[in-house]
Amino acid sequence: MPAPATASRLAGVASSPVREILALTARPEVISFAGGLPAPELFDVAGIRAAYDKVLAENSHHALQYSTTEGDPELRAAIATRLAARDLPTEPDDLLVTTGSQQALTLLTIALVEPGDVVLVEDSCYLAAQQSFGFAGARVVPVPTDDQGVIPEALEEIAARENPTLLYLVPTFQNPTGRTLPAERRSAVAGAAARLGFWIVEDDPYGEPRHDGERVPCIAADRTVLLGSFSKVMAPGLRLGFLRAPADLRRACVIAKQAADLHTSTIDQAAAARYLRDSDLDAHVAVIRAAYRERRDAMLEGLPAALPEGSRWNRPEGGMFVWVTLPAGHDATALLKTAVGHEVAYVPGAPFFSGRPDPAAMRLSFTTHPADEIREGLHRLARCFA
Ligand SMILES: Cc1ncc(COP(=O)(O)O)c(C=O)c1O
Repeated sequence: MPAPATASRLAGVASSPVREILALTARPEVISFAGGLPAPELFDVAGIRAAYDKVLAENSHHALQYSTTEGDPELRAAIATRLAARDLPTEPDDLLVTTGSQQALTLLTIALVEPGDVVLVEDSCYLAAQQSFGFAGARVVPVPTDDQGVIPEALEEIAARENPTLLYLVPTFQNPTGRTLPAERRSAVAGAAARLGFWIVEDDPYGEPRHDGERVPCIAADRTVLLGSFSKVMAPGLRLGFLRAPADLRRACVIAKQAADLHTSTIDQAAAARYLRDSDLDAHVAVIRAAYRERRDAMLEGLPAALPEGSRWNRPEGGMFVWVTLPAGHDATALLKTAVGHEVAYVPGAPFFSGRPDPAAMRLSFTTHPADEIREGLHRLARCFA
């Protein structure tokens, strides 16, 4: 007898093309603008090591034990304080610590989405979110965007027609486009959610660090779930994130998390809490901000000479990505092979679209390499168009 087949929920969900491109471009000689990876040389290794040492020296019986699903109370209190400092009044009990913010997305999807439900996403949208909604059997419906993110009038019309369960947004320094949704549009989106009765999932892994410009307040309406992450400000290998949600929905996510992994690593949470007590995360974020600003500027300065005339790109005020649109007729997916031959890589934009893909779009990450390597990478990119 053959073994039973894999579940049908896998049928429509492909492996992330971005992860596959990353595997292709992992050779050390390739200057890669592909991965959305924080700069590893900026990790505060000494501070993180000290936090783990202290936790193990002073409280190992707790740190190595099972713990509650909701998360380490000290870590939740520290996150609540950080959110309150961003004008988002938060109690520790409003929060659930998750294994990366990616898990928060999975838990929310389990808690909210029935097969056939409509989930609205920005066109284009973070791929692993689309995978998560795909596993739940959701019908993912794209909302048109412009250079500022989702277009509220289009959202209103689509939401009225489709009766969605939720709208998934990365309003600040979006992945893949680096775009930020202006405050007026955030209010319009919150208004539409209240009127038409859907949840907003506000995914905010990139809000800190901002390289320049003014902070735009979180959406933070009644029906909004905020997802946060330590991946971009501390280290992604810690796999620490959180969600802030109203009590009933948070409770449902706690139950889903019990089935997923009981709780996020006790020692990692305790070390992060200890780090937040003993080290100055804001000072560390300022270091990251300065380095990324320099790298972004190196990329923006090098792009005019690297890309064919008629190319367009944005100037993100934070995050990790510049979104490029080549002149019509170019195919960024086909070009990637040539680029890798020249030892430079990027991610084609097409897979991020759930509507009609733009073959000329590409995502360039500016965080992983120092400015001189970025300049060299752009010289190599220019050769692809020669
Ligand atoms: C938009 C978005 N959401 C969530 C995540 C997952 O982050 P985490 O490392 O917190 O799981 C990422 C990772 O790159 C992302 O780009």
